[in-house]
Amino acid sequence: MIQLTAPRETRIRRALEHLRNGSTDEYDVVTPFDAAEYTDPNVAARERDLVFGRVPSIVAHSSELARPGDFITLQMPRNKVIVARQADGGLKAFVNLCRHRGALLEERENGNCRVFSCAYHRWAYGTDGSLRSITRDATFGEVDRSRHGLVELPCEERHGFVWLVDDATQQIDVAAWLGSPMDEILAGYGLADLVSYRAGGFDEPVNWKIMQDAFLDGYHIQYAHANTAARHIHTNVMALEDFGRHCRFVAPRKTIDPWVDEDPGENSLAPHVTETHFLLPNSTLLRQPDHFELLTFRPHPKDPGRCRMEMRVLVPTVEASGLTEDAWTRLWEKNWQILLAVLHAEDFPLLRSSQAGLESADAGGMLLGRNELANQIFRRELGRLVS
Ligand code: FES
Ligand SMILES: [Fe+2]
Repeated sequence: MIQLTAPRETRIRRALEHLRNGSTDEYDVVTPFDAAEYTDPNVAARERDLVFGRVPSIVAHSSELARPGDFITLQMPRNKVIVARQADGGLKAFVNLCRHRGALLEERENGNCRVFSCAYHRWAYGTDGSLRSITRDATFGEVDRSRHGLVELPCEERHGFVWLVDDATQQIDVAAWLGSPMDEILAGYGLADLVSYRAGGFDEPVNWKIMQDAFLDGYHIQYAHANTAARHIHTNVMALEDFGRHCRFVAPRKTIDPWVDEDPGENSLAPHVTETHFLLPNSTLLRQPDHFELLTFRPHPKDPGRCRMEMRVLVPTVEASGLTEDAWTRLWEKNWQILLAVLHAEDFPLLRSSQAGLESADAGGMLLGRNELANQIFRRELGRLVS
C-alpha cells in the first residue's frame, strides 16, 4: 500500500520489510510505450511548449547567485535565458537577447556585472532589464525605452532553488505547483541554508526523458553499477509516496543489512537510506545522510535526441560543517569525483546506447514494469501535461 507522508522511520521500516521479502512498491500495470516518445520532433515541440513553457522547473541553487549583480545564463527548451540577482536581493530572469537587433546579450555562463552591454552596437541594460543607454542616440532616432527593455520570464526563488517558467506570457507560482505535501517537505529540509559545492553540466546525445528515467530507476543498479553504486545501495527496493504529481521514495543502503534479521526497535535507520524526490517535470533531488544532490534534465531546443543534464551537490557551509576549509573541500571534491566517474563510465554510455537503439525505424513496442514505479509516475504525469 502507498502511504501519504508517514513518519520517516515508518517509511524506512516499510522499505526494510520489502528488502526482507524481496518485494518493492509497484504500479498497477505494466505499461507499453513507443520509441517515438523519444525521437519524434512533434512530441518534443509539445513538451517544450506544454511542459517547460507552462510549469516551473529548477535552474539553479540560490547560492550560485548570492550577491547583487550575480548572473547565470542558460539554454532553456524555448529561450536562451539570463537570471540576475537584483539590488533588492530578488531575482529576475530575461530572454538573453538584445532588443536592438537581437544579438546574444551575455555570452558568459556566469559572472557579476552592473550592466549587460551588447557587443554589437553597445546598447546597455540594467540588471533589472531596463534599457539604460543607446549609443549615438542623437542619430538613432526616437525610441520608447520603456518598451525595449529585456523580455522578462517568470522566475521565483523558493526552498533555496531558482525556478523558471520558460514562456514570457505565463505566470509562476512554485508553491501551487509543488502542492501539499511536497512544498512542506522541501521547506523542512532547509535547502536555502546549503551551498552548491559545484554545478556541472553535461550535453548528451540522449532524449531528456531517458536521462531523467535513469535517475528514478532502482532496478538497474546491480546490473549497470555492479562495482560502484551497487556496493552501497540495494537494487529494486523502494517505499514510495505518490503525491499525484511529484513523488518521494526511500531506498535502503547496504549498511541497513544488520537489521534485516534483527528488529531495529527504536534505533533510527535514517543513516541507512537514500531518499529520492522526483519533482515534475525534470528534477531528481537526492537526500543523502549528510548532503543533497540535485539532478536536472532539460530538452535540447530543437533535437529530440539531445539534452543537457546538470548536477549539483548541495552541502552545509564550511562554518556549519565544523570542518576546516581544506577538509571541507577534500570531502566534497571526493564526493563530486565519485559521482562524475559513475556518470561518465556507467550511466552515459548506456543511455547513449538507449537513444541509438530507439532511433531504429522498426524499434517495436517496449515496456515499463510495475517495479519501475517512479518512472511510471513520471510518464503518467508528463502525459497529463502534454495531452
Ligand atoms: S544588437 Fe545589440 S546593440 Fe545592436
Ligand atoms: Fe545509473
